[in-house]
Amino acid sequence: MGNRNLNLYTGEKRVSTLIWEGSFLKLLDQRKLPFKEVYINCRSVDSVAEAIRNMVVRGAPAIGVVAGYGVALAALKFYGEDKQEFTGHMNRSIKLLSGTRPTAANLFWALDRMKRVLDHAGNLEVSRIKGKLIAEAKEIEKQDLEINRRIGRNGKEIFRRSDSKIKILTHCNAGALATSGYGTALAVIRSLNEEGKVANVIVDETRPFLQGARLTAWELHKEKIPFFIISDNMAGYFMSRGDVDAVLVGADRIASNGDTANKIGTLSLSILAGYYKIPIYIAAPISTVDIKMKSGDNIPIEYRDGSEVREVLGKTIIPKFMAVKNPAFDVTPADNITAIITEKEVIYPPYKKSIGKFFKTGGHIKEEVHSSDGKK
Ligand code: MRU
Repeated sequence: MGNRNLNLYTGEKRVSTLIWEGSFLKLLDQRKLPFKEVYINCRSVDSVAEAIRNMVVRGAPAIGVVAGYGVALAALKFYGEDKQEFTGHMNRSIKLLSGTRPTAANLFWALDRMKRVLDHAGNLEVSRIKGKLIAEAKEIEKQDLEINRRIGRNGKEIFRRSDSKIKILTHCNAGALATSGYGTALAVIRSLNEEGKVANVIVDETRPFLQGARLTAWELHKEKIPFFIISDNMAGYFMSRGDVDAVLVGADRIASNGDTANKIGTLSLSILAGYYKIPIYIAAPISTVDIKMKSGDNIPIEYRDGSEVREVLGKTIIPKFMAVKNPAFDVTPADNITAIITEKEVIYPPYKKSIGKFFKTGGHIKEEVHSSDGKK
């Protein structure tokens, strides 16, 4: 793979979110960060599904890319030439992957792309279809990296006119770890930092899974981007003191009216940002838009196991007899969002109109958005 070991763009040790090894997939185990940088090997579609479900890999675009490789692995591990059996096996594998996490649109988008390869295989032999599926998974990974670069470039333009360095607050991890490299919200931060325009990043720790404290901080530290970590309930305090110029976050699913599902806590941040008149930007690839979803009301919200709330890094802090709830995402109404930064352009309200123009009827993303030639 051409971009292997470059994905995190770190100054020191090179680490990648995922590495396709030709016959298996290596995933950086994000549950172990920041203390250990270890990989697990996925050699079957079942192990890929388990890795997504158990948060070995997480973040909407990364889940999509990994699911693509999951489909490729399912094909590789099929032995025989019987097309009917192969189709049944592939459909079951896609169904398995689609049941891993319900909120992020990119998972279903990537699986759709893989399914289209299967649907268009015509009379091809099984071995040829396998090759096509692997190529498509690689293409999804490659395009994701290019898209993130463009998101970074488009996002930094928003701050072009600002004379002073920018103080940014971010939530969860929308970085290289959540994508095939460079990130979405962190792509904008990286691009700004390359021009010396970042004063400081405030990193919400992001309870309960601590993606901010464990993952975003790890990425920023590696790249020597100035930051400090706060617990989530401190955001309002820092906003009230003028310590936040902009809030920059990623997205898991964007409805056609602009309502945006992202990590739990984003909704509260958007309300705080509105009160203090601080702009809040969503950075996401167009593939995060679910054009068939009219509003955020119908976005499925994943509820994860209560143990994530009950425990901190394996230590129980809430006894079993006390009830907990653990919604992993919330929906920020479009009205609270200043702009959505995509690989194509920065989209402003009214979102129904501005998002709509990227789509043909039927909810498929225009192929041109994903052209891999680096041009728009
Ligand atoms: O539960 P997670 O860690 O998969 O949630 C991730 C987020 O909410 C991210 O902000 C989102 O996926 C955007 S990542 C570029």
